[in-house]
Amino acid sequence: MKEYCVTGATGFVASHLIKALLQNGCSMWYAYAKTLGEKTAQKVAEEKNLDLVVVHPSFVIGPLLAPYVTSSLKYVLDLIKGAKGAYPNGYCGFVHVEDLVAAHILAMEESKASGRYICSSSVAHWSDVLAGLRTKYPMYPFETKPNNNEGDRNQHSMDATKILQLGLPSFKSIPEMFDDCIKSFEDKGMLSSAS
Ligand SMILES: NC(=O)c1ccc[n+]([C@@H]2O[C@H](COP(=O)([O-])OP(=O)(O)OC[C@H]3O[C@@H](n4cnc5c(N)ncnc54)[C@H](OP(=O)(O)O)[C@@H]3O)[C@@H](O)[C@H]2O)c1
Repeated sequence: MKEYCVTGATGFVASHLIKALLQNGCSMWYAYAKTLGEKTAQKVAEEKNLDLVVVHPSFVIGPLLAPYVTSSLKYVLDLIKGAKGAYPNGYCGFVHVEDLVAAHILAMEESKASGRYICSSSVAHWSDVLAGLRTKYPMYPFETKPNNNEGDRNQHSMDATKILQLGLPSFKSIPEMFDDCIKSFEDKGMLSSAS
């Protein structure tokens, strides 16, 4: 398989190019791009003598503030509406956006902060997350079938001890994150029982 590098991938033209490449069987190298981005930030920080602190969130959930959905919340909205065709057949770490914001503020303001911080509440399989949501929100269709993607099926954990030791009081639970998220979708009229 050939490799392609598409810059500005959320833009109008590039997003269509990405879509076509994915349909042609290409994989997205999100993790690789993130690693390169962080390494570049470290290099620039070193050159300019900046105090770089990095916060690594897992899948971020919580209430939507903006008038439109992007990124992970768009993904979740589509899962709730059953608009994706399948749910991810794997484990995932989740974090409430308010905990992630608190972690960023700590990383910026706490003088002891240094290096890299994992910011994640719990790891769960998507099938368990969706089963809990289906019981609580029977009015929404939710995806019912797992997808065929391999690679995310390994059970794993994420150790957030370092950010907790820096002063983050605690993490909100997965049900709290999704409740806040779904309430914001409902308040914005993005979900109705007919969706
Ligand atoms: N959401 C998650 O679950 C999650 C999990 C782990 C890590 N992250 C990372 O966290 C970051 C933010 O995620 P998000 O969910 O908030 O994404 P998002 O909703 O897609 O927002 C990305 C923001 O970055 C801006 N942006 C894109 N390219 C830029 C550029 N070259 N210069 C300046 N601004 C630019 C976008 O501006 P426009 O709207 O104008 O394009 C947009 O406001 C991303 O790096 C993402 O990979 C997110």
